[in-house]
Amino acid sequence: MRTIVLATQKGGSGKSTLAMGLAVAAQQAGESVRVLETDPQGTLSYWQSRRGLAEPFVEPVHQPLDLGRRIDALARGGVTLAVIDTSSGINALTRAAIEHADLCLVPARPCVADIVASQPTVKIIRSSGGRFAFVLNQAPHRGQRGAEAASALAQADRDLADVVARPLITLRIDHQDALAAGLGVTEFHSAGKSAHEMRLLWQWVEAQLSEDGCGRSARAAFAESRTTNLSAPATPSSEANLFWDACL
Ligand SMILES: Nc1ncnc2c1ncn2[C@@H]1O[C@H](COP(=O)(O)OP(=O)(O)OP(=O)(O)O)[C@@H](O)[C@H]1O
Ligand SMILES: [Mg+2]
Repeated sequence: MRTIVLATQKGGSGKSTLAMGLAVAAQQAGESVRVLETDPQGTLSYWQSRRGLAEPFVEPVHQPLDLGRRIDALARGGVTLAVIDTSSGINALTRAAIEHADLCLVPARPCVADIVASQPTVKIIRSSGGRFAFVLNQAPHRGQRGAEAASALAQADRDLADVVARPLITLRIDHQDALAAGLGVTEFHSAGKSAHEMRLLWQWVEAQLSEDGCGRSARAAFAESRTTNLSAPATPSSEANLFWDACL
């Protein structure tokens, strides 16, 4: 079983939205998925209540020690993917989730404030020796700002090319309507652009989980995505580089 964790201390970045979207996209791709909710806010439980008995099921977990036990039990029960949603801020449950992660996804809007706010979470992930990737979420669908941000972020540090998931997830109402309907965005409007992005994001995540070592595979995926998934400029503007260098 593989475990992915959505984590950033910054509230409202899209942890729960991406947890739901990826869990359903992964299930549609053939994974046996269970969602673990460590956030007492209960966004995923609310989603499950709207969803009824359709998988993937959501299990609330309240204690750090219970998290490891549940992960072990799910693995023994044949689950192939656990998706863990965490709360904003930093607490013992989030630290425990990070410890159990095969890959942490750090959602951030493509703006300085969100990236800076995610740094304490990234430090915890790095100190645990874990693998992570930023998911740039709620990117504007007009203009190049999201794509420039991703390119500049990746070029601000040579290692960051390995930690920008592709594609960006664009700001679209489908994500909000899917939550209200108790659906994954790929179920809500399966032919829509949001669904397409979410399926591509799951494929990117799956590739990271499948490869032996993050760096080489992530770089390959990044290089490929520049030509296939996004209209990212080959070279970001020097202004954009300065902008992102400053906050990283
Ligand atoms: N790509 C997107 N397009 C449109 N709306 C989005 C997108 N991503 C998230 N949202 C909306 O932004 C809000 C915050 O998202 P979400 O609840 O997933 O964030 P979160 O990081 O889980 O927040 P919290 O820290 O409070 O748990 C929600 O209303 C959600 O529907
Ligand atoms: Mg949430």
